[in-house]
Amino acid sequence: MPTATGIIAEIQAKVDLLAYVSQYVTLRKRGREYTGLCPFHAEKTPSFSLNAEKQVWHCYGCDAGGDLISFVKRYENVEFPDALRMLAARAGVALQESSDLRRRRSEREAIYEANAVAKAFFSDALSKSAEAQAYVARRGLAEATCERFGLGFAPDSWDGLTSALARAKVDLPTAARAGLISRRQNEEGYIDFFRRRLMFPIFNLTGEVIAFGGRALGDAEPKYLNTKNTPVFTKGQHVYGLAVARKAAAAQEALIVVEGYMDCLALHQAGFGNVVATSGTAFTPEQARELRRVANNVYLCFDGDAAGQAATTRNVDMLVEEGLHIEVVTLPGGRDPDDLVREGGPEAFATLLAASRSWTDFKIDAAIQRIERRFASKSDVARQAMAVIARVHDPIEKDQYIKAMARKLDVDEASLRSLRPALVATQNERNGGPQHRRAPAPPRRGLSFERELIQLILARPALLDEAMERVATEDFEDEELGRTYDVLHNARSTIAQGVSPVSVLSDAPNVADLTRLALSSPPLDAQEEAQRFERILERFDRRRMQRRLYHVDAEMNRLFTEGKSVPELLRDEYNSLSVTLRGAAPDKREGKH
Ligand code: CTP
Ligand code: MN
Repeated sequence: MPTATGIIAEIQAKVDLLAYVSQYVTLRKRGREYTGLCPFHAEKTPSFSLNAEKQVWHCYGCDAGGDLISFVKRYENVEFPDALRMLAARAGVALQESSDLRRRRSEREAIYEANAVAKAFFSDALSKSAEAQAYVARRGLAEATCERFGLGFAPDSWDGLTSALARAKVDLPTAARAGLISRRQNEEGYIDFFRRRLMFPIFNLTGEVIAFGGRALGDAEPKYLNTKNTPVFTKGQHVYGLAVARKAAAAQEALIVVEGYMDCLALHQAGFGNVVATSGTAFTPEQARELRRVANNVYLCFDGDAAGQAATTRNVDMLVEEGLHIEVVTLPGGRDPDDLVREGGPEAFATLLAASRSWTDFKIDAAIQRIERRFASKSDVARQAMAVIARVHDPIEKDQYIKAMARKLDVDEASLRSLRPALVATQNERNGGPQHRRAPAPPRRGLSFERELIQLILARPALLDEAMERVATEDFEDEELGRTYDVLHNARSTIAQGVSPVSVLSDAPNVADLTRLALSSPPLDAQEEAQRFERILERFDRRRMQRRLYHVDAEMNRLFTEGKSVPELLRDEYNSLSVTLRGAAPDKREGKH
């Protein structure tokens, strides 16, 4: 990708990996590295590791790793051009209209653009509509709140947005694929999808609008109309408000999850900055993972009605299984958080938060109720409880749960524990094996000098040129490392322009191994580094000589056994090699390994 080289270098110079990743992962400094919970698999103890100096990251749990761009690709689930575009926007690096990247601009980007135009149109319409303003005021939403969440209004018109999109030169078929407009039936042209609705843009974590939710102003059905699935939005995979709540949530290490858009806004306005909404009650594992990117503790705060409580019961197990720590907040009957803060102010909600129950208590209380209402027997409940337990990762939480359950059910702890695991198959097992099982650790290889050389180049790319003068690709015996060296070799000018070597290698099959290698390199001062480099190059030289000596020796032997004379040149070479290699007899084995 030669045209992108300068851009990549510029991005890497401007966007710091640590700062970037910190937006999504809570990192703690440990020694030379930063560690945190891996955003790419479920875990409770941090195995995600980042080295700011080397600008590489790696997860020892799931074996993912790479540089800034590979993090963005993976985290945003986008291809290289999209990742680059996102980073370029952040770094203020211009991607030229005519460049390769621009031409390969994906459908996703076109949709983001259409959505951005729609959002601007809706927010302009909100400021102009007396009816919408009155609705917003009636719902008690302050202007600052509306602005923070990018609220807008879809006017009561068939083609308001359609015309605005056309004026802004947005490709209308693209806007239709974005779910903003739809084809007229049996007629030419398009009509607006959202009409006379308060519009809630749904943002991804990098701030692009991926969809909208539209609240009817009156009692039109449905009450909420949401963007249908599009190439950038799949229902049930996103969490509303996460981009806004992220910072506060990371700082507090907790998220509050409510059901509705309105609840989310009302709580933010009441001063709870770490609130997000599921947009409905069905909670998916994808959403759980979105949450886990931001915080590990989650307060579930579903509506106090039967549907909300049923949703809590349904969702708790899955959320726990995804590695989240869950606290359940119970709202008084029939209320949602919006009602609550409107009636009782921020204090009312703060009181409820303080009275939250851990998920284990929540489950136990629910079980007891089932027994009391004679919906279940003690032994049913005990079995169900143990099925839940089988999914808990944290041994301490597990133990506490069993103890509390035994106490509350008034059964023997040992008999609870003795319930056969076969009867309590976990969700994962039913689905054909744990999804988050750690990747098997690659066989431990000692750090050969071939690996050492690659490691050193990854840490100090400036050494590449000199290495190339003294070590050829063929000098590598480890084929994979040889290919790695070859890639670095071919990318020398790219690397010289400042692109990190790990970026160049981001598509290599052994990129995880390489990032691990890069992360494990010791901090060296310039002198130590130069010495180490020299020592490694000497090992290569030495092995090359040994091979040559082995070869010369074999040739001399052949001539000798065939009764031919050995040329003086060959004899000289043999002698000089032997002397250089400390006069020792050639170690024939080393030449083959
Ligand atoms: N929802 C939806 N489609 C519907 C109804 C609800 O997508 N037809 C989602 C919305 O995200 C909504 C959430 O489910 O915010 C909760 O629904 P509900 O409790 O009915 O609405 P509220 O958020 O309380 O909205 P309001 O206060 O305006 O009635
Ligand atoms: Mn409500």
